[in-house]
Amino acid sequence: VNHLLGIKYLNEADIQLIFETADHFKEVINRPIKKVPSLRDITIANLFFENSTRTKLSFELAEKRLSADVINFSAAQSSVKKGETLIDTVNNILSMKVDMVVMRHPNPGAGVFLSRHIGASIVNAGDGAHEHPTQALLDSYSIRERLGDVAGKNVVIVGDILHSRVALSNIFALKLQGANIKVCGPKTLIPKHIESLGVTVETDLRKALEWCDVANMLRVQNERMDISYFPSTREYTQQFGVNKNMLDTLDKEIVIMHPGPINRGVEITSDVADSKQAIILNQVENGVAVRMAVIYLLASKIKS
Ligand code: CP
Repeated sequence: VNHLLGIKYLNEADIQLIFETADHFKEVINRPIKKVPSLRDITIANLFFENSTRTKLSFELAEKRLSADVINFSAAQSSVKKGETLIDTVNNILSMKVDMVVMRHPNPGAGVFLSRHIGASIVNAGDGAHEHPTQALLDSYSIRERLGDVAGKNVVIVGDILHSRVALSNIFALKLQGANIKVCGPKTLIPKHIESLGVTVETDLRKALEWCDVANMLRVQNERMDISYFPSTREYTQQFGVNKNMLDTLDKEIVIMHPGPINRGVEITSDVADSKQAIILNQVENGVAVRMAVIYLLASKIKS
């Protein structure tokens, strides 16, 4: 397959290959010269139809570290605003001899849809509330780096599970690697039948924290919901926000993760986000090496 559309299309061996390749690139980007010439003959278009800070910059940097030619497209400043369709937009870009498309889009399945209509490799950089595969890969890679392995670890994903592509991709990735997974959040923000994915639901944050080795704290995605069925921000913070006092009463030091952007004081207090228990900026650092690995491996298939 010449795409990365979701973790659900990968197997455990694919993930291990990505991690071993990322280990190499992590070593490369810590050298004085952070660049390799591997993709001098590849051109990549980054198409962002939805806002992004980390993912957009991380992909661009990963591509440049691999010496690919890079073009960037933001829908807000484009002819999409004049009514041009997704397929027309992408086909016009591809006619400029582009080999690979990295796309973030608000519609679930946008990458799969595009893969049926165009001839280039596609990397899903987040499609609505569906999947965010490179985020899940960098999250697992960061757990592996901090705890040595993902297999057998207890991971709780806390927050707005219903609207979170990070949660779904993490569940698929953690399951493939043999982690134990709980989700924790308000009942209104947990999908019905989520147990069918092999996770258990815990609505008591304290119990979830006592059980876990890793807590991945998610933002409430107000932009994807009708505000009326969500508890108030104050209620959410009281029941599902993590603070330092809470962590200090646990009998072990758990690892705190967050994909960003953080709403400080809502799902996580600053004293937790900025503590040594938190690996939030390690996740961002690892994102570049993991994305280099994904792009490098897909580009090898284009070239062969
Ligand atoms: N984690 C993440 O996807 O962040 P951005 O929305 O800033 O890319």
